[in-house]
Amino acid sequence: MEKCILITGGAGFIGSHVVRQFVNKYQNYVIVNADALTYAGNLENLMDIEHSPNYRFEHVNINDAVAIQALFAKYQFDGVIHLAAESHVDRSITDPNAFIQTNVMGTANLLNAAKELWKGKEEGKRFYHVSTDEVYGSLSETGFFLETTPYDPQSPYSASKAASDHLVRAYGNTYHLPFVITNCSNNYGPNQFPEKLIPLFIHNIKNNKQLPVYGDGKYTRDWLFVEDHAVAIDLVFHSGKNGETYNIGGFNEWQNIELIKLLCQKMDGKLGREAGTCAQLITYIKDRPGHDRRYAIDATKINKELGWYPSVTFEEGLAKTIDWYLANEEWLNNVTSGDYQKYYAKQYN
Ligand code: NAD
Ligand code: TYD
Repeated sequence: MEKCILITGGAGFIGSHVVRQFVNKYQNYVIVNADALTYAGNLENLMDIEHSPNYRFEHVNINDAVAIQALFAKYQFDGVIHLAAESHVDRSITDPNAFIQTNVMGTANLLNAAKELWKGKEEGKRFYHVSTDEVYGSLSETGFFLETTPYDPQSPYSASKAASDHLVRAYGNTYHLPFVITNCSNNYGPNQFPEKLIPLFIHNIKNNKQLPVYGDGKYTRDWLFVEDHAVAIDLVFHSGKNGETYNIGGFNEWQNIELIKLLCQKMDGKLGREAGTCAQLITYIKDRPGHDRRYAIDATKINKELGWYPSVTFEEGLAKTIDWYLANEEWLNNVTSGDYQKYYAKQYN
């Protein structure tokens, strides 16, 4: 085998698409997926590749420094692609400590293990930290986030991700740890846990439940289909420059309420309901505390330097996403049983 790569958080939404991309494309690599299987981690996401000879799963919590050291000793990784994180802003508002623990301390544990393993033999090694555009804070109606935009995180989630980005750069500067960071906009697609806007609303529409729109609904996000993010990660992992940051975005801004109306219209068609039926479920509710008004990524750098551009239009991506959720009822039922009901009641009632 040519390389052994650790992917953390590979049982989650984006991680599972990254694991699939690497396992299928690089049969000469061993891909080790390390995941604690929190509420957001689901091995069902990887059933199609779980028996591939170049795939291994390790049930490990990145907060456990001893277990992480042992994992690095066992596999002698050549590269790390770090996605494991607490990832939902609303949960960070109710339980910030879990975010500080996993996103900051867990990242530090991985950095320490990589630094020790690669000391004096950094050539050809790479620590790839997957981050978010939310570290840059909130935009008003104009402007875009550039790689040089100063950090200004506004939620416990984005603050914990910002802290982890700073740690990665500090290890690069202080210990010569070879790293790259990407900051990506909102992802959507198959396998996303139905607490984030698009899968939550598909699930609610299907079950004729209200669609809880925060505040005036005029918050804006830039949406990227998850498989395009996985392709960008592959490209940056192999061709990005050491010590660099790349912004990744969908060139695809939507006000929440406009996106929700489009989703309702598509769902009317898919479910054979009369036009306008699903939109009747839209319900404006109390705003999220500290809600960031607008995110918008300028992804010119990755486009110009590495030739990456999203391959899927929003219309196509949304259709694929809806079709996936409608075809995977069992997946949806499994993840929305048990604790999900308690979370939903606490968050929305
Ligand atoms: P997710 O919540 O769907 O998955 C997170 C995964 O990490 C799960 O499999 C979970 O079990 C695992 N995990 C959580 N805590 C862990 C721990 N302590 N030890 C080991 N594993 C743990 O998240 P996602 O949406 O797939 O996001 C993945 C990464 O991409 C995160 O770092 C997130 O900040 C970043 N990101 C997400 C988006 C987005 O729109 N979802 C956008 C940009 C960046
Ligand atoms: P979300 O998917 O949680 O991603 P993020 O907060 O990381 O951008 O939310 C996307 C947008 O949708 C955000 O402006 C908040 C809004 N939203 C709602 O209006 N209602 C909801 O129930 C959820 C989950 C999100």
